[in-house]
Amino acid sequence: ARLVVLVSGSGTNLQALLDACADPAYGAQVVAVGADRDGITGLERAVTHGVPTFVERVQAHPDRAAWDAALADRVAAYEPDLVVLAGFMKLVGETFLARFGGRTVNTHPALSPAFPGMRGPADALAYGVKVTGATLFVVDAGVDTGPIVAQAVVPVDDDDDVESLHERIKTAERAMLVEAVGRMVRGYSITDRKVRFSS
Ligand code: GRF
Repeated sequence: ARLVVLVSGSGTNLQALLDACADPAYGAQVVAVGADRDGITGLERAVTHGVPTFVERVQAHPDRAAWDAALADRVAAYEPDLVVLAGFMKLVGETFLARFGGRTVNTHPALSPAFPGMRGPADALAYGVKVTGATLFVVDAGVDTGPIVAQAVVPVDDDDDVESLHERIKTAERAMLVEAVGRMVRGYSITDRKVRFSS
């Protein structure tokens, strides 16, 4: 299966996928990595692996819709079976979802439906929950609302700060992402918000 991965930051989730794809038995390859900004470690990881990269900046377009359409064109050029948003800090829009809806997944550092949005680890810490985690979901028009593919649970320690908690979440998140994408490439269906794997 062909994966296009979109990143905005350090790209450790991308790295986990690149490492998994090195084993032919995994059944997937990262055919391109895209970003919404230059100069990020995530893009460097792709270059190191010899994977083509592209950058589509919002600021290069008259409006968000034009950016969204351009992003969709960039992704489409690589004919992905699955698009993985791995720490991609932008919401994709209508045009993107019209083309890649149902086969775009995003990873969120909280246990959905709790703590959607940009500050999952901080919000979980502030709320005082004793467990939190990561959620892989199929992207829909909402913010972190789509059908859930997989979740991983991590404990919150009494002496956690946002950084230590987010790091613990990310360790679980990477393993969850690799496992779940591996299952998705073997086939899945979505009925009534329920994601079911074929095997
Ligand atoms: C992940 O925790 C992701 O869920 C969040 O940002 C982090 C990205 O990490 N939105 P990385 O760029 O994959 O290292």
